[in-house]
Amino acid sequence: MNQATPQTAAARLKKISPLRPTLAIVLGSGFHHVLSELHVDKKVSYAKIPSFPKPTVSGHAGELYFGHLGKTPVMVLSGRAHFYEGHSMERVTFAVRALAAFGIRDLLLTNAAGGINPDFRRGDFMVLTDHINLMGVNPLRGGDATSPEAFATGASQPLPRFVDMTQVYDAKLGALLFRAGKSCNLKLQRGVYLAVSGPSYETPAEIRAFARLGADAVGMSTVPEAMVARQCGLNVAAVSCITNAAAGIGKRKLSHAEVLETAGRVKTLAAKLLKHFVGLYGQI
Ligand code: HPA
Repeated sequence: MNQATPQTAAARLKKISPLRPTLAIVLGSGFHHVLSELHVDKKVSYAKIPSFPKPTVSGHAGELYFGHLGKTPVMVLSGRAHFYEGHSMERVTFAVRALAAFGIRDLLLTNAAGGINPDFRRGDFMVLTDHINLMGVNPLRGGDATSPEAFATGASQPLPRFVDMTQVYDAKLGALLFRAGKSCNLKLQRGVYLAVSGPSYETPAEIRAFARLGADAVGMSTVPEAMVARQCGLNVAAVSCITNAAAGIGKRKLSHAEVLETAGRVKTLAAKLLKHFVGLYGQI
């Protein structure tokens, strides 16, 4: 694949809008409704940005927005590439590298997830405190400042290979999410997100195993982006919409339709949460 560098993509982004937000939000299932609150400056299809992936999942549009939520400038990525779609990890995380090259400092990742913690209900929101990567690959594999791969990604400064993951999710941004939840009367859960590659859902035995490992929710995204963001020095926060009880926790069979149904039911709440979060972010 003839891959443009993140710097090339960032240069293109800089030509699209004069706005220079420091915050970017990646919208997963359930969170897209916030776009109705966004005062859009510019909207661009991923197809127009070098090397941005084309999402193939319904509900993942593949559009990047520059705009304001309230008074705060923000970049919003509607749609992401998933590993289960067959993309390489480089492709899945390319947008994050481009955001870092653009000058984004803070990244909010959102997703839909299955609830493992028995206290969680469908439609709850969970702030990630940590993660377990069971995708079977490390997205930083191959990247090193002195390696040919690093030069191929166009890194302008050496990026560490052995990245510390002690605190992936930024405590200050997490606290802002909780304050945002409070200000819209929404009690947020907190917990550990376990990432699998998908695309099948899990078996009940897998979910029992994941519970024993310490997972509160399970999903198929976010972790590669969060890890690459940390390598690039971005502050990361993440929030899951618990769209279903994980396999064997509830009585029902799992389906993408249920995920979308719950996501649709809580979309207004999700939008409110993000809007309040950005409002508070603008005050710091
Ligand atoms: N498992 C994995 N990914 C998911 C789930 C789930 O139960 N729900 C939403 N995304």
